[in-house]
Amino acid sequence: MSESREWVDVGAAVDLAARRVQAVQVGGRTIALTCRDGEFGAIDGRCNHVGGPLGEGALDGDYVVCPWHHWKFHRVTGEGEPGFEEDRVPRYEVRVVDGRVFVDPRRATKRNRKPHEPHPLSRPVVREPGPIRVVGVSTTVMDAAYPRYSTSDSLLETALEHAVSVGCETRTIKLNDLRFRACEGYYSKSAHACTWPCSITQMDPDDEMDQVYEAFVHWGDAFILSTPIRWGAASSLYYKMVERMNCIQNQETIANRHLLRNKAVGFIITGGQDNVQGVAGQLLGFFAEVGCQFPQFPYIAHSRGWSAEDMENNVRFVQESTGLRDGARALVERTVDMARLMVEGQMESPGLVRGGRKAHRMTK
Ligand code: FES
Repeated sequence: MSESREWVDVGAAVDLAARRVQAVQVGGRTIALTCRDGEFGAIDGRCNHVGGPLGEGALDGDYVVCPWHHWKFHRVTGEGEPGFEEDRVPRYEVRVVDGRVFVDPRRATKRNRKPHEPHPLSRPVVREPGPIRVVGVSTTVMDAAYPRYSTSDSLLETALEHAVSVGCETRTIKLNDLRFRACEGYYSKSAHACTWPCSITQMDPDDEMDQVYEAFVHWGDAFILSTPIRWGAASSLYYKMVERMNCIQNQETIANRHLLRNKAVGFIITGGQDNVQGVAGQLLGFFAEVGCQFPQFPYIAHSRGWSAEDMENNVRFVQESTGLRDGARALVERTVDMARLMVEGQMESPGLVRGGRKAHRMTK
């Protein structure tokens, strides 16, 4: 690449025409250079949304599609797709002389960001006054039209009823009732492509994961999450949910932003067969990573062991067990106490505020 007055030679036209979209460096800027039917276009390489690399995108007609969340910009004018024309990235003049492609970095148009209504979840996290708020999260899967008896759901109900009796507000989220997409791996493109609120939540108004985010980030203080044991692991819906919660954890990493503060979590784990401690370890590991605290003895569990295939008896055992019900009540009390300790004391960890998770990692 060579510079002649203001025009910058970015390469041989025959080579550059071989790719429909590519990133080229011009005067310290990254440009998204396109070629369609032999005509070159040059627009700024940084997307208006959250800075995705347009030069690594694809071409849809005359629009460059951002590889992160698929916003589109006209490859020659820099304008957003129809309906979003005001959302413009800078465009650059480009010409071909003697088989070489030149871009003029000094005559760029101005970037313009069309104001977008912020997503409700993006509001500041402020705990509203009021009693301790308990969220029950049921992760078990079943046919909604013909629900079966669930041991984990039943103990969760007992816990929440008890929370009401000790003056808490409660809310129940049954993941089985929500329609939400699996995480599509924006983080795998770039940590910065994983956004808060979640990219899917912002793009898809029909996705109901917003209810989970609202409960965890804004509403709840104490959480009781219940799961069956499936093949020695937590429910598949649990994993679907926590993959989508990666955006909460990722804010720690990329923005030193602690979305979950003063939250306590307890768990109910039941299964006909074993691996209670393995499941508990998974749950504790994840919720520790997103900044939650735990009560002393953070889970109750029930399993009849590896060889117990007689699930009817397992259900009967849970239905008749006063010990498990007492355990569920005690668990929610411990979890509420831990939440109250933090909420009323407004616990602030200077280490977290200053250094966030990165500082925590450095101590490992
Ligand atoms: S669409 Fe470009 S960064 Fe999100």
